[in-house]
Amino acid sequence: MSQTAVGVALIGSGSAVPATVLSNDDLARAVDTSDDWIRTRTGIRQRRLIEGEESLSSLAIRAGAQAIAAAGIEARDIDLILLATSTPDDLFGSAGAVQAGLNAPRAVAFDLTAACSGFLFGLVTAAQFIRSGTYRTVLLIGADVLSRWTDWSDRRTCVLFGDGAGAVVLQANSEERLLAHEMRSDGSLNGCLTLGYQGEPRALPGNAVTVQQGGYRSVAMNGQEVYKFAVRRVPEILDKVLHRAEVDPEQVDWLLLHQANQRILDAVASRFGIPNDKVLSNLAHYGNTSAATIPLMLDEAVRDGRVKAGDLVAASGFGAGLSWGAALFRWGV
Ligand code: UT7
Repeated sequence: MSQTAVGVALIGSGSAVPATVLSNDDLARAVDTSDDWIRTRTGIRQRRLIEGEESLSSLAIRAGAQAIAAAGIEARDIDLILLATSTPDDLFGSAGAVQAGLNAPRAVAFDLTAACSGFLFGLVTAAQFIRSGTYRTVLLIGADVLSRWTDWSDRRTCVLFGDGAGAVVLQANSEERLLAHEMRSDGSLNGCLTLGYQGEPRALPGNAVTVQQGGYRSVAMNGQEVYKFAVRRVPEILDKVLHRAEVDPEQVDWLLLHQANQRILDAVASRFGIPNDKVLSNLAHYGNTSAATIPLMLDEAVRDGRVKAGDLVAASGFGAGLSWGAALFRWGV
């Protein structure tokens, strides 16, 4: 492709969720909680969980295939597959299995780990490859299966998460449709949201070396700290991208935030004076699906006709790291 300045467009979306539904009432039979507490504190009514043969890769492949079809391209057109996930089937990365499953042999494929900011960070990463002229067509998938790493006896966290995947195809475009973006990290708050490794000392035969072997603990979150961080940092970073693109909040057609808590969505919308009917929300049905929330929500709204070509979308993701990011784009070409 030519090395002249190129814009970035989001040209197709897809998504996939597991068939199994776990309602708040189901959870209330397992831990000391209630449908009322979960709904009023978070907005979540149910979540989807993988079972049996389903996996992170199978969800990601389904979402990716849908996005490829919606974009009107072939899998062999894809130059790069970015899989934003913190819950791969394989710690070496699941992007290779996704590439094979999609039959996209030309694509280079790798995982990107940034928890609930993964999709936003992936969007910005994809844009760099397109703008530099390195790649023309990128499939970005956000997928997570936090059910594998949730402590199902901890009511503070197990009510929040669900499994899912969403995807978009980004392509070089003569007009710039990704108007502004920004990413941030604050590692001093790293301990607020973790899924940490824990190893036990194990002496090798002959006692020459004692290595550490083990596994991962469950998701641990200081909910109040993360909540405070989100309602402070998300408006700040959205303000920045709007300012950079010289766009007023009234011009935004859709506010598309990481779906962690309805109260966070409401607080951010009210800070910008964005009315409820412009705030995209599906966390009642899926809970917090980590890197998947933004593309899962976007795909739903594109398919039901709410988000149309040319609509201005202000998106923001936030979560472990702690990390956060925002992007302003016009959907489609
Ligand atoms: O995706 C990454 C980003 N993550 C987020 O953005 C999450 C941000 N945080 C939140 O959304 C909220 O902090 C939570 C939904 C996690 C918690 O809501 P909260 O209003 O901050 O509740 P809290 O942690 O202050 O707990 C209030 C009370 C406590 O009881 P006491 O100490 O007041 O007696 C908790 O023990 O609610 C209790 N509680 C529950 N009660 C029933 C905590 N979880 C539950 C539960 N059911 N599931």
